[in-house]
Amino acid sequence: MALKVALLGCGVVGSEVVRLVREQSAELAARIGAPVEIGGVAVRRLDRARDTGLDPDLFTTDAIGLVNRPDIDLVVEVIGGIEPARSLILSAIKSGKSVVTANKALLAEDGAAIHAAAREAGVDVYYEASVAGAIPLLRPLRDSLAGDRVNRVLGIVNGTTNYILDRMDSIGSGFAESLDEAQSLGYAEADPTADIEGFDAAAKAAILARLAFHTRVTAADVHREGITEVSAADIASAKDMGCVVKLLAICQRSQGGASVGVRVHPVMLPREHPLATVNGAYNAVFVEAESAGRLMFYGAGAGGEPTASAVLGDLVAVARNKLAGTFVAEGAHDTGLPVHPMGVT
Ligand code: HSE
Repeated sequence: MALKVALLGCGVVGSEVVRLVREQSAELAARIGAPVEIGGVAVRRLDRARDTGLDPDLFTTDAIGLVNRPDIDLVVEVIGGIEPARSLILSAIKSGKSVVTANKALLAEDGAAIHAAAREAGVDVYYEASVAGAIPLLRPLRDSLAGDRVNRVLGIVNGTTNYILDRMDSIGSGFAESLDEAQSLGYAEADPTADIEGFDAAAKAAILARLAFHTRVTAADVHREGITEVSAADIASAKDMGCVVKLLAICQRSQGGASVGVRVHPVMLPREHPLATVNGAYNAVFVEAESAGRLMFYGAGAGGEPTASAVLGDLVAVARNKLAGTFVAEGAHDTGLPVHPMGVT
């Protein structure tokens, strides 16, 4: 019997998810131990449905009806934003369906409630695609480093702003022109304010900090400054000093480990710093852990296909867990470490 997936949203990422599920159906079935198929796709407007090659009858504007259909086994949410994504995810969880989501804004605002609901229902919520696109980063933090003590997570987690700053630095192009390019390449959020004002990076920093330090962190806990105040003159002065400007997310233990500080702001980095060489929409994140030492994660941080790769990886994991009758109870043992936006050292 095939596992049926409800896909919520069919934009840049969702249409790539459909393509990959269709093109790799045999490989996915072999890896999971059962075939997966798209059982329905919820879209806002049927007349705007992308040409995915799927049977048009699979498309619906009734997202909640799709989530609650008894034949649906798993739900993939790539709508983004808080509502209706939150209600749809909670409905899926309550009806015993594991969820894969790329929704950083929602997880950074309400992740604790979503994980609590999933624990109670005995289902998975996986969200690798919510931070740093294709880069496997969240599950390494959650699983591979579970036996270590992470002290710092630092890096570039927003492809749009990195693309803009990179273009301003390398070819001297203007802010607006670079933003237009980033949008046309499918990197930017629907409202680019989330990227350029640092909200997107702050949400990702909150998710990273929660996983790294096993404590509740929301986007409101993150000190945030975007790149709208970075001028061509700032970029030129940084250049004169042998530096580049990068928007960094910095999550670290402070006060001797008794609290956590999380912030997002532009930083001048010497050109020889590894993060200074991260160009275009690429992301790179350093994780510093007591025993593992310094680890660097690098790769495509935005764009439909790279992000869909992370969604598919999660889909395989939750499908396997479902068949094995198991799930990951995330957030059950949080430490309650206090969080300060800037951290106190
Ligand atoms: N707008 C985001 C970025 C997309 O530019 O990084 C990926 O989360």
